[in-house]
Amino acid sequence: MQEVIKTFEVTSFENVITEEMKKEAIQTLEQGKVVYFPHLPFSLHEDEFQFLSPHVVAPNSKNISYDAIKDRLGGTICRGEKEQKLKNMMERYALQSRLFIEKLFPHYKEHLIQGRTSFRPAEIAGRSSSWRKDDTLLHVDAFPSSPVKGKRIMRFFSNINPAQQPRVWKLGEPFAEVVQKFGIKLRKPVPGLAWLLKAVGITKDYRTLYDHYMICLHDLMKRDKEYQENAKQQEILFPPGSSWIVYTDQASHAALAGQYVMEQTYYLPVESLQNPETSPLHVLERFFGQKLIEKG
Ligand SMILES: [Fe+2]
Repeated sequence: MQEVIKTFEVTSFENVITEEMKKEAIQTLEQGKVVYFPHLPFSLHEDEFQFLSPHVVAPNSKNISYDAIKDRLGGTICRGEKEQKLKNMMERYALQSRLFIEKLFPHYKEHLIQGRTSFRPAEIAGRSSSWRKDDTLLHVDAFPSSPVKGKRIMRFFSNINPAQQPRVWKLGEPFAEVVQKFGIKLRKPVPGLAWLLKAVGITKDYRTLYDHYMICLHDLMKRDKEYQENAKQQEILFPPGSSWIVYTDQASHAALAGQYVMEQTYYLPVESLQNPETSPLHVLERFFGQKLIEKG
């Protein structure tokens, strides 16, 4: 089995990053592997430990989310002073992770698009959901209602579990191999569908061919029982106090168990990568022999 994760020794968000580490980290990330920091904790303030409970989440939400651009917190039942404290914690994670990413990947600095910050206080194991939403199955990320139009999805995670419980993941085979396996089953969209989805507000933007094929790939992977059981895969434990970064649109992954994780999403234009050839967009374009992002 190929190496799917690479360890980097950084012990604080303030650490100086060596040139060698920067070089290795960007190569690892763009190959679809996990850039892993076993000893890089996101530290909570004393009055933030009260948020380590699934009861802070609103009844219809899975996670608490924070939009740093609009400075808006969502998905929580906390109000007043408590809500403000929770927002401060999320804001601090958004800022610390952003500064760290800019330091580790100076190549991306000018191109990073800030996505949502999320706090996931619910236990994953045993949670029931439809197969499409079941993230305990191997998949690559694709968003049905928010087309990314080729942009990359990069995610920064930190396990903040207070009870020494690891975040348990599975990592699957490289993206190019996933495409080799499922590419033949990827069907063209119904003509006019992308226009209709946008017109009635199901998608926030025009769903490009790239977005269409990524959603199909996500669904084909999750729906294939035989694949889920027999595909090359490796179980990885991320202990409390660790952090990791991965392109979740490229790395085949599944989250099996764990509780209390922080996550920050970033989007990146493909052109800003050091090696755009490795991106899912280019892999799929090579497979289909055509451009998958329509201009205009
Ligand atoms: Fe995912």
